[in-house]
Amino acid sequence: MDIQAIKNRFGIIGSSPALNYALQVAVQVANTDLTVLINGESGVGKEVFSQIIHALSARKHNPFIAVNCGAIPEGTIDSELFGHEKGSFTGAVDSRKGYFETVNGGTIFLDEIGEMPMGTQARLLRVLETGEYIRVGSSKVQKTDVRVVAATNRDLLERTQQGKFREDLYYRLNTVPIRVPALRDRKEDIPLLFRKFSVDFSEKYKTPSIQLDEEARNILVNYPWRGNIRELKNIAEQISVLSSDKLVTANDLKRFLPDQPEVNRLPMLAAPQQNSDFNSERDILYKLFFDMKKDVTEVKKMFFDILQNPNMAHAAEYHADNHVLHSYPGAAEMNTPPGAGLGPAQQPIILPDNKIDHHEEVEETLSIADKEKELIVKALKKHKGKRKDAALDLGISERTLYRKLKEYNIAE
Ligand SMILES: Nc1ncnc2c1ncn2[C@@H]1O[C@H](COP(=O)(O)OP(=O)(O)OP(=O)(O)O)[C@@H](O)[C@H]1O
Ligand SMILES: [Mg+2]
Repeated sequence: MDIQAIKNRFGIIGSSPALNYALQVAVQVANTDLTVLINGESGVGKEVFSQIIHALSARKHNPFIAVNCGAIPEGTIDSELFGHEKGSFTGAVDSRKGYFETVNGGTIFLDEIGEMPMGTQARLLRVLETGEYIRVGSSKVQKTDVRVVAATNRDLLERTQQGKFREDLYYRLNTVPIRVPALRDRKEDIPLLFRKFSVDFSEKYKTPSIQLDEEARNILVNYPWRGNIRELKNIAEQISVLSSDKLVTANDLKRFLPDQPEVNRLPMLAAPQQNSDFNSERDILYKLFFDMKKDVTEVKKMFFDILQNPNMAHAAEYHADNHVLHSYPGAAEMNTPPGAGLGPAQQPIILPDNKIDHHEEVEETLSIADKEKELIVKALKKHKGKRKDAALDLGISERTLYRKLKEYNIAE
């Protein structure tokens, strides 16, 4: 199949030899059942390769599933992939089919394979070699016919040397390697990608599309782009939203690029609430955010005022269902209205009036989650989307970071 047709179909921008070669390998290998290992730095666009391989294979009418091995807790990944029998572990009230069973005949994309626990790696090796697997808690060997495509931004060979990845599995997965090039290794694609993203964001935000002057284009092309296409896309979005001038100069651009120590970064507004003199769209946006925050605080306060009113039982029930109050000081002493014949989980909760300063406490309870989300977003930005570095900075494991990204629905 023609490479250009594939690029059009899957929305892939770029024409550098390294990208074309990677696509060529994907096309050639698609219609075999060989296992493919897609390698490349974070944000280079590995995911679409798995879709191309499935879509161009004889399995295309059968299921395709993408599993992020880093996002599934270690305790449940075996069960997710291979299924389990009833009673095989606490909470296994029913038996369950795993993906290797439900996707029989199709393709499984194992993303972030470097994060897969050692025990699961052993099961995976077996299914790759013999097509056999066993549900957790069962002794019955079952057969499946699944094609595996895996991806990682890690150096798997190094992981094997550290004893964190099975060497036999590494060689089994690496039957056909596809290396997706880093953006700095295909500089000629950078202006094309930037133009594409600028147009997309101008449509999204209904603003005229931004353009770079020549000097700015040179800076863009020679920037290291450690977060690759994901980072480029983020920068294009920021400039599209925040730049007041649609012709972006080198100086404008530098303010958005974190690896430019010699220039002033985006100015922080010291006291945005008091600033009534707006010099740019960015200042206006900051002001808007602060106003929105004030509104949210007001709404929260109103909500708790309503809660205090015993006639508003519905509002209180909503709260009970959402467990918002469980970490609330005084929650243990909450009253239930007389005659409420509901189980504890459904009982309307009325807060005793004298217990707390509602406004202050609500702020405190909710802001922990807000702050956590904010910190995660900040850390990812600082490390240009590199989850490993962001997790290190945040002092949490990468696995926890994956879970939080999902939990807070943070798009990278
Ligand atoms: N050639 C391309 N043309 C246009 N957009 C692209 C291209 N390649 C990737 N993208 C976009 O770049 C972003 C990052 O791609 P993707 O999520 O596949 O990265 P990744 O290699 O899987 O990174 P990670 O290892 O961090 O998961 C996505 O928004 C994707 O749509
Ligand atoms: Mg990915």
